[in-house]
Amino acid sequence: MTLQERDKEVIWHPFTHQKNRKPPMPIVKGEGTLLFDEDGNQYIDAISSWWVTIHGHANKYIAERLYKQALTLEQVIFAGFTHEPAVSLAERLLPILPNNFSRIFYSDNGSTSTEVAIKMSLQYWWNNAESTVDRLPLTAIDGERSTVNGQRKKILAFNDAYHGDTFGAMSVSDRSVFTLAFHDKLFEVLFIDTPNEANIEELKATINQEGEAIAAFIYEPLAQGAGGMRMYEAHWMNKLLKAVKSHDIICIADEVMTGFGRTGKLFASEYMTEKPDIICLSKGLTGGTMALGVTACTDRIYQAYLSDDKMKTFFHGHSFTANPLACTAALASLDLLLKDECLEKIQWITAENKLFATKLSNPESRFPIKNIRTLGTIIAFEIDKGKDEYLNDIATTITQKALELGVYIRPLGNTVYIMPPYCITKEELERVYETIISIMFE
Ligand SMILES: Cc1ncc(COP(=O)(O)O)c(C=O)c1O
Repeated sequence: MTLQERDKEVIWHPFTHQKNRKPPMPIVKGEGTLLFDEDGNQYIDAISSWWVTIHGHANKYIAERLYKQALTLEQVIFAGFTHEPAVSLAERLLPILPNNFSRIFYSDNGSTSTEVAIKMSLQYWWNNAESTVDRLPLTAIDGERSTVNGQRKKILAFNDAYHGDTFGAMSVSDRSVFTLAFHDKLFEVLFIDTPNEANIEELKATINQEGEAIAAFIYEPLAQGAGGMRMYEAHWMNKLLKAVKSHDIICIADEVMTGFGRTGKLFASEYMTEKPDIICLSKGLTGGTMALGVTACTDRIYQAYLSDDKMKTFFHGHSFTANPLACTAALASLDLLLKDECLEKIQWITAENKLFATKLSNPESRFPIKNIRTLGTIIAFEIDKGKDEYLNDIATTITQKALELGVYIRPLGNTVYIMPPYCITKEELERVYETIISIMFE
């Protein structure tokens, strides 16, 4: 049996319509920007395999560090024990994060990093509540009240947000195809639009009205990924964050996608002067080599957990919390990312994207596309055909055509985007742009 036939018998793939699904492509090797299939064909991975492989595939430096660590310590329980890679990584991350963060909490992936952030901020208010009576488990009735003796319970989030697939993460994400089957199980969230010149005063008014009941505000800074690569401006976000912060609302920046250079700066939060109290990281954290999540918080949050009362413990953890291999991969990835060569490469991709955007938006080009936008190493636009939605079938056609031309992209419905590994060469990036153009011209 071929690998595809064996796969068909035993595997259930993510985000994949199971009936009549196309056989998945067997990949036998990765090298830098390239993926190789079993017939020897090669493809430029222009979306960094779901936005994670920032240094490309099978990076030798990361692999060698991993091998050494695997022979030293591969895993150890992280309650009551510690180890060098976890501490070193926290020590290296804290000074480069976009605020005075004081603690690193490890988990397994992007969804758990946001799940942890939501729980951490809700329990912050619970720990700080004035009366111990109100720290008893919530009843359904309590749940309907948004504030009890200083304990805030509401969460604020953006329309079109995507923060992951676990229940807390789904609750703070847009109500969409990803969450439809679970709507009655998701907790209530106050959703607002991303800010712009036209709506900023209205948004501020909503915040001022609801502010004292809101525990936390979770947002993908400047680029909303799975919700359709939607971008919004730092200027208006800064104004919104100011209003949010004036009510002591905990700001959670979900930089799972935008972190580690994606937007042209190390973290997208650097574009704003108003900084988050909690930041969520994953994806590029390990250079895409291992699964790892980080939730970092400021001392304000951490202090709420420093108590003689054992009930104020953060009762959360995962078997693989701070896995030594994953932390080692992250340390190696940071070494590569912070080299001048890599930082310059990020600026180069940013500039190339801007040039390509002007080419696409030239009125004489007559491409059937709209909303061309770029932010750092991300470029996105919509194909002006069918509905603007995730289920638009054009995604499959585009992916197939691009593969035939040796490029892998995976549009979100009719939203096409490129998010390449930073090691992409000039020739490879040109090839990706040319592929997009040739598909659009057909
Ligand atoms: C902004 C953001 N948050 C959270 C997640 C969830 O991450 P994971 O898929 O690792 O659970 C994603 C994944 O795409 C994301 O883009």
